[in-house]
This record gives sequence, C-alpha cells and structure tokens, in this order.
Amino acid sequence: MPTNTWYAHDLDTVRDMLCACIGPKWGDAPEEKLEEIRQSRYAQGKRLAHLLKINDSHTVLDFGSGCGFVTRAFCEKAAKVHCVDLNPKFLDFTRNELSSFPQTEFHRIEYASIPQVADESIDIVISTAVFIHFLYYDFLFNLIELNRVLRTGGILYFSMLDADAIDLHNPAAIQNHISIYKDSVRGDGFMLQPSSLTSIKKLAPQLGFELINTNHIGAGENVAEVTLRKTGAPDLPEWLRDCI
Ligand SMILES: C[S@@+](CC[C@H](N)C(=O)[O-])C[C@H]1O[C@@H](n2cnc3c(N)ncnc32)[C@H](O)[C@@H]1O
Repeated sequence: MPTNTWYAHDLDTVRDMLCACIGPKWGDAPEEKLEEIRQSRYAQGKRLAHLLKINDSHTVLDFGSGCGFVTRAFCEKAAKVHCVDLNPKFLDFTRNELSSFPQTEFHRIEYASIPQVADESIDIVISTAVFIHFLYYDFLFNLIELNRVLRTGGILYFSMLDADAIDLHNPAAIQNHISIYKDSVRGDGFMLQPSSLTSIKKLAPQLGFELINTNHIGAGENVAEVTLRKTGAPDLPEWLRDCI
C-alpha cells in the first residue's frame, strides 16, 4: 500500500482507535473522554452537513469514516450514506456507532478503489482528516476513483494539510509530527503529509473537477478545506491510462 500503512495495522482497543482517529490532542487516555470526542467530531459533521446543504434527496459517501462520529451528522440528513475505510476495525466500530441509521452501508476498501459503489451513484463525497495524509500521487489516484462514483455536478469536499500555508514560525499543524518524522523510518509513522494546494488546484480540472471553494482553518490556518464539483470524466493522457 503506497501510504498510510499505519492505518492498516491492527487496532485492538478503543484507545488505539481513538489515537489513530484523532491524534494526540486528547492525551494518552482518550477513551476516558469518548463522549467529548464524539460530540466534538459530530459538531464538525453538523457544520459540514449545513455547509454542503445535505438533504434527504442525497446519497453521501464518507471517505475514511474512521469512528463514524462525523458521519452521524450526514446520516441524520441524507437518504443514504456509504461509510468507506481501509481498516475493518474502524468499520466494526462505526457499524455499532451508527446502528440506528438503517440507510447506512459500510465498505472496506483497498487503496483508491471502491468497487462496492456504482459509477455516478453519489451526490456528495466528504473526507475529513484523510487527505491530510496524502502525497500528490494519492490525490491523483483517489480523485480519479472519487470522480467515478460521483454523478456529474456532484460535490467532493476534503480537508488537506496545505504546504503552501505553512510557516516555520507558525507551524501549528505540523509541529508534533516533525519530531516523530525525524525519528521514524520513512512511511512507518502516523504521518501528516503537507501537500501544495497550488498543485491540487492545477490537478483538479485535469481530473474532471472544478474548484468551488477553498478555506483555511485550524491553528496556524495550515489546513485547507477544498470543495470541488465534478464536471465530467478525467482527461487522462494515454500514458497515465496505461498505468492505472
Ligand atoms: C484521522 S482519521 C479521520 C476519521 C474521520 N473522517 C474523522 O474526521 O473523524 C483517518 C481515517 O481515514 C482512513 N484512511 C486513511 N487512509 C485512507 C485511504 N487511503 N483510503 C480510505 N480511508 C483511509 C483511516 O483508516 C481512518 O479511519
């Protein structure tokens, strides 16, 4: 798997899962703050459901749904919700978390491939705190697959760590990870991966998306929220079609 090997590891306890899902900011025993964490992520989901105007005509796909805390807000509004994740332990947790929403489906996926979801069947894809781990190549392969599942005119929202916005004197989002990175073997850690928003703005139209909005948030404003609309199929050069 190209990146995020960390997420493919066994997550044996709720503590493991919360640490993976929300990082170090809730301390060493996040399971003791489960309800607070749940409510905090749910509030994020409510904000996005409002921003993206999710309603009962929509089919929504939460890409990298983690513990399902954010997803709950989409389940409350949408006709149907697909939860997609690499790690089956997260999906088991989320299945339980969202058991009161029968219109929700759960799919374990391999890297950048969601065969369980039909072409052009999704109105809105939302991915919070997932693309923050992605290299440019991960953006490429995942945006191609998400273009496939979205209907034309459908919306893709994701948050990413914008390398263009990082200032070493105001490094809020990356500070913790720089020391972890220094002591890790490349790729073995729980790594944030800053990517240039400028490069993604150039990539998106080549993959059949138009840019609707970008917005910088978080401490240091290093995290970019990106909203794209699908305009059509990707315009891939021959060499690239041969290698995907
Ligand atoms: C930091 S958690 C975020 C979870 C949730 N979206 C939230 O905001 O609370 C990242 C999630 O994305 C999943 N993930 C990481 N890389 C992925 C990939 N390439 N494709 C799909 N899911 C991925 C992880 O297994 C994990 O559940």
